[in-house]
Amino acid sequence: MGIYFLLLIVGLCWGQYHPNTLPKRTSIVHLFEWRWQDIALECERYLAPNGFGGVQISPPNENVIITDPKQPWWERYQPVSYKLCTRSGNETEFRDMVTRCNNVGVHIYVDAVINHMCGANAGAGDHATCGSYFNAKTEDFPAVPYSGWDFNDRKCKSRSGNIENYQDISQVRDCRLVSLLDLALGQERVRSRVAAYLSRLLALGVAGFRIDAAKHMWPADLRAVLDKLGDLNTQWFPAGTKPFIYQEVIDLGGEPIKGSDYFGNGRVTEFKYGAKLGTVIRKWNGEKMAYLKNWGEGWGFVPSDRALVFVDNHDNQRGHGAGGSAILTFWDARLYKMASGFMLAHPYGFTRVMSSFRWPRYFENGKDINDWVGPPSNEDAGIKPVTINEDTTCGNDWVCEHRWRQIKNMVIFRNVVDGEPFSNWWDNGSNQVAFGRGNKGFIIFNNDDWSLNVSLQTGLPAGTYCDVISGQKEGDFCTAVQVHVAADGMANFLIDSEDEDPFIAIHVDAKL
Ligand SMILES: *[C@@H]1O[C@H](CO)[C@@H](O)[C@H](O)[C@H]1NC(C)=O
Ligand SMILES: *[C@@H]1O[C@H](CO)[C@@H](O)[C@H](O)[C@H]1NC(C)=O
Ligand SMILES: *[C@@H]1O[C@H](CO)[C@@H](O)[C@H](O)[C@H]1NC(C)=O
Repeated sequence: MGIYFLLLIVGLCWGQYHPNTLPKRTSIVHLFEWRWQDIALECERYLAPNGFGGVQISPPNENVIITDPKQPWWERYQPVSYKLCTRSGNETEFRDMVTRCNNVGVHIYVDAVINHMCGANAGAGDHATCGSYFNAKTEDFPAVPYSGWDFNDRKCKSRSGNIENYQDISQVRDCRLVSLLDLALGQERVRSRVAAYLSRLLALGVAGFRIDAAKHMWPADLRAVLDKLGDLNTQWFPAGTKPFIYQEVIDLGGEPIKGSDYFGNGRVTEFKYGAKLGTVIRKWNGEKMAYLKNWGEGWGFVPSDRALVFVDNHDNQRGHGAGGSAILTFWDARLYKMASGFMLAHPYGFTRVMSSFRWPRYFENGKDINDWVGPPSNEDAGIKPVTINEDTTCGNDWVCEHRWRQIKNMVIFRNVVDGEPFSNWWDNGSNQVAFGRGNKGFIIFNNDDWSLNVSLQTGLPAGTYCDVISGQKEGDFCTAVQVHVAADGMANFLIDSEDEDPFIAIHVDAKL
């Protein structure tokens, strides 16, 4: 009783760091730009049965409609009001999604755009996804309402009013990020309006927030907003549960603002993770997979229990944000699957899987001139539905990386090995590496240009295991390579460097 009570207290205090997923559901997926009705279906038909813990959704609040270029993905990062109506759906559809996903144990994480409203040049009128009137020039957003007094113009000290110098902390937080009207979160009135928006989402059953552009807000201002929030809806969550908070803080080193400045509020997005992992898997800058032995804090990352990690996100998969060309994406499918496999097998951080749409990527002088292109859309600008093909992949230009067998199976692997230590590391001093997770799972990679043939200690109970990368266990049948673990835990592995996916992963739930 006493110990239970103590655990309960600790649990409450740690609310904002705990992802609020069900036990043994250890990853979320970002269904970038999906419609709410498709997310509801995906929760029921795919995410729940495959052990996904939740979904990060695109911003659900009203945004400006940009016509030049035509409805780019980034228009959703230009709020006009906190009405729940966007190209992804209206409030009725949003409520239906949250309810249906929660009912099957898959939780919803909202991308909260609260640092700013729309761009200074967004004009005046009702060209917004809910038809609300606004005037960007006079900073008038009656549908919230916000007016000129609610923005940081008087506080910003840069010449242009925009952020010009990332070495100047005040500028980064008080001035406009690429002209976006910067909300005065130092003011009580603004804090209350933002908190009212987030609390309304919590009441509907949302489990947490990705805080967009957190680096551009003062940590204490954000804290003041978060302190006003209620607990999660008790229809699905234990009483007193706090929302999971993960803050977008791009810190690759070299700037005065650090991810650690935000630990008081929740986790932070660790952007070094994808940038470094991409560099290693690509074998750039002399990096080798053997160096991944001390992956995690050993690489200068934030502590594991403060990190939200990902191979790529919606920004850096198209050259925005951080990481540059090192970032691996679905465009480099073979390497991307290896990076995702490594991330999902490794105990560091809380993992988010990316799920993208295809766009007409086209490089001119090293820059993708179509990096702005929004989701697959119909003539009437409605987002196209996510169709599901016979072979379980997606149609209509939805990439659905989360449905790729290798990635889906590694999401399950991570659930199976949850809580097990990082163990039995092996490397050949080059790009052949392996490690286990206690006595629950083992993974081995061959990213060298020659074949691998080695006998290793797996830590696993004796038996025959079905590789979940080259295929999977279906009933009693294995459609993949089989690995025989001897009584002493040793197993022999053969991986040709020419294999479609030069890695093997086995775990106790895929034992034959
Ligand atoms: C929300 O969208 C659905 C589907 O398009 C539609 O049937 C419904 O009438 C809309 N509800 C509201 C309140 O606009
Ligand atoms: C690992 O790479 C080294 C070269 O660095 C090579 O000599 C060795 O054979 C490789 N090990 C295995 C098990 O293939
Ligand atoms: C792998 O190595 C073992 C032992 O060194 C050897 O008996 C076997 O023939 C090798 N297999 C291949 C395919 O090279």
